[in-house]
Amino acid sequence: MRVLVVGGGGREHALCWALHRDAAASVADLTLFAAPGNPGTASLATNLPIPATAVDDLVAAVRDRDIDVTIIGPEAPLAAGLADGLRDDGRAVFGPTAAAARLESSKAYAKEVMHRAGVPTAKSAAFVGIGPALEYIGNHPEPLVVKASGLAAGKGAVVCQSRIDAAKVVRAMLDGSLGEAGKEVLVEEFLEGEELSVLALTDGERVLILPPAQDHKRLGEGDTGPNTGGMGAYCPVSLATDALVARVRTEIFEPVLREVAAQGSPYEGVLYAGLMILPDGTPSVLEFNARFGDPETQALLPALLPGFSEHIVAIAQRRWDPLPTQQVLAVDQAAVTTVLAARGYPDNPEKGVAIRLPDVKELGEDVIVFHAGTFRDNEGRLRTNGGRVLSVTGLGATVAIAAQASRAGAERIAFEGKTWRRDIAWREIQRAGAA
Ligand code: AMP
Ligand code: GLY
Repeated sequence: MRVLVVGGGGREHALCWALHRDAAASVADLTLFAAPGNPGTASLATNLPIPATAVDDLVAAVRDRDIDVTIIGPEAPLAAGLADGLRDDGRAVFGPTAAAARLESSKAYAKEVMHRAGVPTAKSAAFVGIGPALEYIGNHPEPLVVKASGLAAGKGAVVCQSRIDAAKVVRAMLDGSLGEAGKEVLVEEFLEGEELSVLALTDGERVLILPPAQDHKRLGEGDTGPNTGGMGAYCPVSLATDALVARVRTEIFEPVLREVAAQGSPYEGVLYAGLMILPDGTPSVLEFNARFGDPETQALLPALLPGFSEHIVAIAQRRWDPLPTQQVLAVDQAAVTTVLAARGYPDNPEKGVAIRLPDVKELGEDVIVFHAGTFRDNEGRLRTNGGRVLSVTGLGATVAIAAQASRAGAERIAFEGKTWRRDIAWREIQRAGAA
């Protein structure tokens, strides 16, 4: 089996790692490619120097190398129609069409779908002009959340404590501060609660829910400071009881998938629901993503038993047969992922800084390091190349033990300006302590 993973972040390294582990467990023959990949995927796959959004070049590479299955990691190539291009060329692909990926690439579209499907989500309205937006802001209570409708790489949602701030953010976005992504904005009610990331594999009809994870979006410890793409994640989350997951299935995933299929845009791949669990226990949707989460994937995949990749490949090849009794994929062990970011992240990350990355012997068997923003210089030395540099996943019997392993691993990796949180999974550890 020849498999291509598109993307070059921590998520894609984790996908390559899981494909390898699962192939080894089932003694399957796997040849792996990554495009563009990173120094981490290079140890598992052949990196192809093709940008993730170069649709025509990727379609050609898949044809030339006779790749059986392509797995698309990031949102940009999905929105650019990579899945469509590959399917039109007769290739098996894991990832939704551009039309279906609008659940992520257009928040206005996602809201429309949710309204029609009766799915709980924050009350909001979409605007392309400043006048009606300001009027709406004037008529709604603070705090308010302002969101760019389009893809904004994690910078598109701003929680505004006051109406004045909300008005400023709306004006800036409509004036083009986020480019095309912010030419339509949503003004949304602020929801209190605890966030949960629930990802589900689907062939458009059937749903296999992956063990829910929790992401830490804020830069600072104690969940303070600016929002980022994610500073860490863990799995499993005890907040996600069987009863809650069953509600998420019947109240969110199933109605949304039925609705998009009815509209002629059936959704295949992984659908990620970013939820707020309200104080009364209701799961309310903050956003959908049309892909695996980053860094959730770096925690999620190592937490699973081998066998996960077979689902992905089978969905791509349109021969998926999930066991009817299997509603949620089982967790094998707890996993906690700590992100090591560059100094200046998220606004202005420093690049080119040398990294000291110890080997497995020094890090221990309970630590897996996934590369994201790294590159090798001409002498082969590892250097920082972006905001989120490495993800350090610790494993253990409990979340607390896994968190300890992750922190110890993070401690041993050195680079100037290393920016990280030592408190990933704190909510879960607090809950376990209180139980
Ligand atoms: P989004 O891109 O929509 O997931 O928003 C990014 C982050 O902003 C979320 O993970 C939340 O932390 C926060 N957020 C978004 N929408 C809301 C909301 N309606 N109420 C409270 N917080 C929100
Ligand atoms: N960790 C949040 C995301 O992948 O969008």
